[in-house]
Amino acid sequence: MKYLIIANWKCNPGNERQAKQLFQVYKKQMRSCKNINLVVCPPFIFFSNLKEKFKNIFLGVQDCFYKEGAFTGEVSSQMIKSCGANYVIIGHSERRNIFKETDEEINKKVKSVLDNKMTPILCIGESEKQREEGETFEVIKRQIGEGLDKINRDKIKNVVLAYEPIWAIGTGESAEPEKMQEVKIFIKKLINNKYGAKTSELVKIIYGGSVDSNNINSYLSTSQMDGALIGGASLKKDEFSNILKKVNSL
Ligand code: PGA
Repeated sequence: MKYLIIANWKCNPGNERQAKQLFQVYKKQMRSCKNINLVVCPPFIFFSNLKEKFKNIFLGVQDCFYKEGAFTGEVSSQMIKSCGANYVIIGHSERRNIFKETDEEINKKVKSVLDNKMTPILCIGESEKQREEGETFEVIKRQIGEGLDKINRDKIKNVVLAYEPIWAIGTGESAEPEKMQEVKIFIKKLINNKYGAKTSELVKIIYGGSVDSNNINSYLSTSQMDGALIGGASLKKDEFSNILKKVNSL
């Protein structure tokens, strides 16, 4: 099996030269990685300049819009597909919080990504307050139920679910791998109940939130995640190379 590692650059780095340099470092390290499919999600503006064919490195973007037309500033799934992307991050907590994206909009985006034959990476996860109030499972159930509403079994197997507890994103507060395994099992059960065991086997569940070279392997081994969504550490050349080396050692 290959682990799915997603590098989410967010609104970084500050210029194109740095983006290209970072990508070169990834390429060099990936030459020796046998068990990783790496998805690089740069800002839209850098995307086309990183479009070199390279074994086991795929390109993705961090958001999309679900139709074309008079929507200033938006980029549609159809456009993204036509530029060669394979993956689209949808419903990242920063988009849910800062840009007030709702589960209903997120569902439209997931559908448009699937309709354009790309893989949506649907982000889900509870806030600090929700965790303290014991609402983790309830929040996840709602986000999955609404985010994947009216998506049939055939399409669901192409969805990647990224569990990212908001309190662990960019905070350095790494979540306990054993607890993350419980959440993974819960998510699997939800998919299993709705779509059956065979389909749920195909749906990848990955973890995100302050992943680094020290904790990555515990999320892949102890939590049994299928991969990781990595923000901050994906911008640090040495640290990200170390992450790839660690995963390759599994
Ligand atoms: P982080 O970000 O690795 O910096 O916590 C993860 C994410 O937001 O996808």
